[in-house]
Formats: sequence, structure tokens, C-alpha cells
Amino acid sequence: MAKHTVVIMPGDGIGNQVMPEALRVLRAVDFDAQYIPAEIGWDCWCREGNALPARTVELLAKHKLGLFGAITSKPKKEAEAELSPQLRGKGYSYFSPIVTLRQKFSLDTCVRPCITFPGNPLNFIRKKASGGFEEPFVNAVIFRQNTEGLYAGVEWTNPPAEARSGLAMHPKFKPFSDVPGPDLAISVRIITRKAAHKICLAAFEWAQKYGYKSVTICEKPNVLRETSGMMEEEAKAVAKGFPQIALRSTNIDAQTMWLTKDPENYGVVVASNLFGDVISDAFAGLVGGLGFAASANIGDEVAIFEPTHGSAPKYAELNPPIVNPIAMFLSAVMMLEHVGEKTKAHSIREAIAAVVKEGKVRTYDMMRIRGSSESLRQGAASTIQMTDAVLEKLAKQAAAKTEEPVGAGRAR
Ligand code: NAI
Ligand code: MG
Repeated sequence: MAKHTVVIMPGDGIGNQVMPEALRVLRAVDFDAQYIPAEIGWDCWCREGNALPARTVELLAKHKLGLFGAITSKPKKEAEAELSPQLRGKGYSYFSPIVTLRQKFSLDTCVRPCITFPGNPLNFIRKKASGGFEEPFVNAVIFRQNTEGLYAGVEWTNPPAEARSGLAMHPKFKPFSDVPGPDLAISVRIITRKAAHKICLAAFEWAQKYGYKSVTICEKPNVLRETSGMMEEEAKAVAKGFPQIALRSTNIDAQTMWLTKDPENYGVVVASNLFGDVISDAFAGLVGGLGFAASANIGDEVAIFEPTHGSAPKYAELNPPIVNPIAMFLSAVMMLEHVGEKTKAHSIREAIAAVVKEGKVRTYDMMRIRGSSESLRQGAASTIQMTDAVLEKLAKQAAAKTEEPVGAGRAR
């Protein structure tokens, strides 16, 4: 029996192109796993009226570990129009399966590392006062609370009378009290102390484990006194248990400015749901963007790893595929780290780093050209060629290891 079981959810569009490549890489490092394919996404919605079939949920509940590609989601009207004719008008409504997964399995901790690969032409560079440019080394890991905050889903246009009268108890609601219901939209920002504490603790534990000197809480407590205030309070409480790690505090607006000024100053950053979503995309843009952005959704029992990008439908039909599989590889690397396969994770990361540094094999995004069937003729590598290049580096690493003389490095 294999040591690990992974539920594989390629999903839609380019999810189907990058997932098989990630499996090639995982096989190359002899990850001892059984892979169980599971359906998720648009086809499931069209056929069954549910983008997240119960059988997929059951597999995840059983095996606890998932690797996810990407899904397509479309606005309400389009979703209804694409539903198979016999299901139409029967009350089915579309829900994003990945958001549902996060809620169903309480995947409350989202981790998004944004770390520079030297040699990546997409890296952020900065103009020096003395002339010329420099490329700061970004090594930030964003911890985003994944289930609460402004994404908790408690919202109305035309809120019910009870909600309105509840809100009317707050003096600051006065200016809105006469707004007609259909003209009034409200999204509630909910933070619980338990979840705030948990995400801050996860951030500090990561900082300790991987040697980061600081954790930055990125909120807006001067304005959002209650919700951001609670996040900051819990960050301070957790920080007491980690005297060797500095707690810093930034406001979300200022942070988005500072991260393009001196991104190398930030290590672990922790934020509530929306702010974490914003700040992680902002940091990801400094280190290569969607082709490089990986993430983990971690709960107490289940963990799901996924690239940040979506299904990129405009590239999904291209054969050979042209999209960058590195974000998917890095998601697999995070999965390996999560299950304790650190050496294998490190090997893959090093192999990717070597390919990027060498700069001979680059997908279209890394060449800053428009993606199309022409890209390959313009010198871009295909998705498969990028994987081949990573596999070649892995094979070189393995060969170098076997060439080391027996007993080398041992004290005599
Ligand atoms: P997207 O991430 O799919 O694509 C945006 C653009 O980014 C692409 O057109 C492409 O230029 C680039 N890109 C994305 N992945 C890339 C890769 N691996 N290599 C190179 N370039 C890459 O976002 P978009 O276009 O906003 O959404 C498309 C569909 O994906 C929608 O249906 C959306 O709802 C869904 N989506 C799903 C997500 C998920 O599964 N977690 C996340 C974001 C969007
Ligand atoms: Mg986002």
C-alpha cells in the first residue's frame, strides 16, 4: 500500500493541462502515493447541477489530502443557461466549489508563499537613486484567514426589516436609515476571536519553523476598530509566546504601497480574508504572477493545495498547451512539505530554481509575450517542455547524489 493517498481534482480548463504535469514531477521524486481522481467544476455543474459532487466531498473526507487544479465559474444567468436542459428551472443554483470546499472542511488557514526565483524575468526590479536597477529578493509568506471576514457571505441587497432595525441600534447607521431597501447593499465583516487567534498562531508557527524574523499583521485597526482591532489584539496575544519573532503592524493601504517600495523587508504577513486575498496577489505580482503563485488551504483535518490561477479558458484548448505549470508544481511542493516529505519538496524546488536561473526554457508568460498558438514559434516553451526541463534537473540532482563517494563528508 502507498504511504499517502491524494485526491486529484484537475477541474476545468488549464487545470487539466497542469495537473498531469505535476503528477509527472511527483512521480519523478518517487513520492509514494496513490492518486485518486475526483470530479469537480463546470462539467459537473452542467451535467448534475452541482459543481462539487458529493462523491468528491466523500473522497476528501476520507483521504484528507487534495491537489486541485482550477475551476471555471460564470455569472448566474450564464450558469443557468449552460445547465443540462432536463435540470433547468428545478431550483439548482451555482456555487463555487472551491469556496464551498473551504467552508465545508473549515480550511481556515490559507498560506501563499511569494518567494523570488533568481533569474525570473518577471521579478520585480527597482530603480536605484544612484542610477541603474536592483532586484530585491522577496521572501514573503502570506497567511490569509480563509473562511470569515468580508467573505463570510452574510450580505443583502434590501436587507430584511429585522436586520435593518438591528443596525439602527448603531448611531453610525443613522445616515443610511432612510435609504430604500433595494438601494441598500450590506456585506457583514465577521471576525471571531477563535479564528483570528488561529490564523495568527499559524503565522507565528510558520515564522518559527522556517526562520523568519518577523510577522506583520496587515489590517486597518484605526478605522475598522472592532474587526481589525480583534485581529491585531490576537496577533499581540500570540506574539507573547514567540519572543524571538518581532510583531509588526501595517495598514492594508500603506502595505500595498510599501510592498513595491521595499518588499524584501517583509517575512510572514497575516491578514483577514479580503485583505489577505489582496495582499497575497500583490506580493505574487512581484515574483512572477499567476504562473508562479501557489497556495495551501489547511484545515484541522483536510488540506487542499492549488495554484492561485483560474482555468484560463482562452488557453485551455491549445494543443500543445502553453501555460506555465510552475504554480501547480509549487502547490505540489507545498503538499509534500505538509505531509513531511521535505527532501522531495526541496528537490523539486531546487530543480525549478535551476530551470528558471538557466533561462533556456521559458513559458510565454516568462517571455512577456502574448499567449497564443504562435507563442511556441516565438521561442516559448510548452507546458510539457517546462515539465521536461524540471525533470531533467531532477535527474541531474539524482545522478550527482549517486556520484558522491561513499562516506563523503563523514567525520574521520
Ligand atoms: P485566470 O487565472 O484563469 O487567468 C487570467 C490570465 O492569467 C490568463 O488569461 C493568463 O493570461 C494568465 N494565466 C493564468 N494562469 C496562467 C499560467 N499557469 N501560466 C501562464 N499564464 C497564466 O483568471 P480569469 O481569466 O479571471 O478567470 C478564468 C476562469 O477561472 C473564470 O471562470 C474564473 O471564475 C476562474 N477562476 C478560478 C479560480 C480557481 O479555480 N481557484 C481562481 C481564479 C479564477
Ligand atoms: Mg484572489
